[in-house]
Amino acid sequence: MFNQRTRIKDLLAGDKANYETTVMGWVRSFRNNQFIALNDGSTNANIQVVVALGMLDEATQKRITTGACIKAVGEIIPSLGKGQKIELKATEILILGDCDTEKYPLQLKNRPSLEYLREIAHLRFRTNTFGAVFRVRHALAYAIHKFFNDKGFVYLHTPIITASDAEGAGEMFKVTAFPLDGTAPRNEDGSINFKEDFFGRSTNLTVSGQLEGELAAMAYSDIYTFGPTFRAENSNTTRHLAEFWMIEPEVAFNDLEDNMNLAEEFIKYVIRHAMEQNKEDLEFLAQRLEEEEKQKPQNERSEMGLMEKLDFVVNNDFERLTYTEAITILKESNHNKKKKFQYLIEGWGVDLQSEHERYLVEKHFKKPVILTDYPKEIKAFYMRQNDDGKTVAAMDILAPGIGEIVGGSQREERLDKLLERMEEMHIPADELWWYLDTRKFGACPHAGFGLGFERLVQFVTGMGNIRDVIPFPRYPKSAEF
Ligand code: 4AD
Ligand code: MG
Repeated sequence: MFNQRTRIKDLLAGDKANYETTVMGWVRSFRNNQFIALNDGSTNANIQVVVALGMLDEATQKRITTGACIKAVGEIIPSLGKGQKIELKATEILILGDCDTEKYPLQLKNRPSLEYLREIAHLRFRTNTFGAVFRVRHALAYAIHKFFNDKGFVYLHTPIITASDAEGAGEMFKVTAFPLDGTAPRNEDGSINFKEDFFGRSTNLTVSGQLEGELAAMAYSDIYTFGPTFRAENSNTTRHLAEFWMIEPEVAFNDLEDNMNLAEEFIKYVIRHAMEQNKEDLEFLAQRLEEEEKQKPQNERSEMGLMEKLDFVVNNDFERLTYTEAITILKESNHNKKKKFQYLIEGWGVDLQSEHERYLVEKHFKKPVILTDYPKEIKAFYMRQNDDGKTVAAMDILAPGIGEIVGGSQREERLDKLLERMEEMHIPADELWWYLDTRKFGACPHAGFGLGFERLVQFVTGMGNIRDVIPFPRYPKSAEF
């Protein structure tokens, strides 16, 4: 039954008419007991299935409701109606799955809010908006693999269960096979005795595959990871998830500048791919965003539409400057009353808040920005120390509307410097013996970065909330589905 099906996308792309075919999909609407708008998710567009009057008995006709799944056989003919070139003149309609109209949440007359759709994430795939978002997400994932594959990188699968905390931020979910009823074995001092646990040690879900990625880069030269990562930070924002996907390339013989060049080329490549492959989806999302923007007061509207923004990003160089230069700009703009920040920049060394990042990107430079050479105190232990003794060879890429989209650095390959920094930051060297080994056996300069996949999807689709670009989002107090 299923191999005779033609995807609606392929039907609509063809220019032939007058041939027999079969389509299957979900009814979007049924007008005048005659016109079915049918969608199978292969594209945002529907095919119009025309039912001749009197062709169906009344009982079958009643079962063609919004959300019902049907099979339609018939002839593809040129359409006389507006809005479509072809339509299917049905000779046979079969109901594959009924849909209870009274209870179907997408039956609502008004456009449901994104917040409401999040509560019915099992059904939101069927809306135009989420259809487009998740097809674009797919296109980006494919482009990521293609980009690295074509450059000769090895795709490395790093562990999801790990004993190390790569970022040293301690925001990890524990993994244990112990019962949680208080009967887990204890040490003499009352703490849990993880030696008796499944892995014989305390373990957690990974926050990053980087440290393992570095090990492989010391053999293959060019590797990347693309997998789920987990953070138990209690951030209820439009940019944080507890479970998100990260892409982490790691390249031997690269320095910070090579790293920036790779990241910029990479981001432009994947966006360009989505623009070529998913033009209609992006145009739909751009339209949707434009309507949303119209609801805002004039001075809060963004200056560029979605397509314009993406075009601009792929065709212009990212702005590159140091953290220190950024601080000067921020202080001056605050001083000149160009911008009043909620958090004032008090001095050199403080971490930037998202309002500062967004000011730099959206108001000052009006383009993606790469900030480099951050104070070592606000960055992870593995970043390469600069000669000034104060900064590290870090880079963050900030994107309009999103803020940080990439975090990366050149890595500290000098064993003595690395050990010194680990001690200062209380990172246990004995647990990371394997990481330190690479600094003893053929160490080399190397660099890498992490791109938050959902933040990229957010940027490309223009969706305001990160919870709407991953099928089933995990965030504080929510792990439904
Ligand atoms: O800046 P981060 O913490 O860097 C690392 O994890 C490094 N190990 C990467 C590397 O050098 N290989 O995270 C990298 C990116 C951020 O820039 C952001 O885009 C994303 O991951 N990210 C999140 N995305 C969604 N939800 C969260 N809670 C995120 N935390 C970080
Ligand atoms: Mg970061």
